[in-house]
Amino acid sequence: NTIYVLNGPNLNLLGLREPEIYGDDTLDDIAGMLEDRARELDLRIDMRQSNHEGHLVDWLHEAQAEGARAVILNAGAYTHSSIAILDAMKAIVTPVIEVHLSNPHARERFRHHSHISKAAKGTIAGFGALSYVLALEAAARL
Ligand code: DQA
Repeated sequence: NTIYVLNGPNLNLLGLREPEIYGDDTLDDIAGMLEDRARELDLRIDMRQSNHEGHLVDWLHEAQAEGARAVILNAGAYTHSSIAILDAMKAIVTPVIEVHLSNPHARERFRHHSHISKAAKGTIAGFGALSYVLALEAAARL
């Protein structure tokens, strides 16, 4: 009953990084919110962050190998560039929910296209830390 929550590049700086765009919550704050809600839903959260593309690929494979129920993925800027992450999502049957704190469609043009959406069960974006909690609600119902 584990949900992997995978976070990509620069999300370790959450809370400090462009707070007007990404909010004041740190990744630890978000982990706390998810753990509180997960407890109520009888789920377990495995929250990770890496600035390295290959780690995200490995963790997607691991999610399937370990029988995770779903993956919540904020791939950061790799969203817009990574065919390797897209392929990893296609290579597993574990459902992946794409999340973003900001609404990429309301931002620069280069953020409008997501490579990974093609293989995502669905996408939740634009609600700050709440995007993650909404993704957990969705994961619990899959
Ligand atoms: C982001 C949006 C991406 O465009 C950006 O590169 C990020 C964070 C978000 O959560 O809003 O690093 O994924």
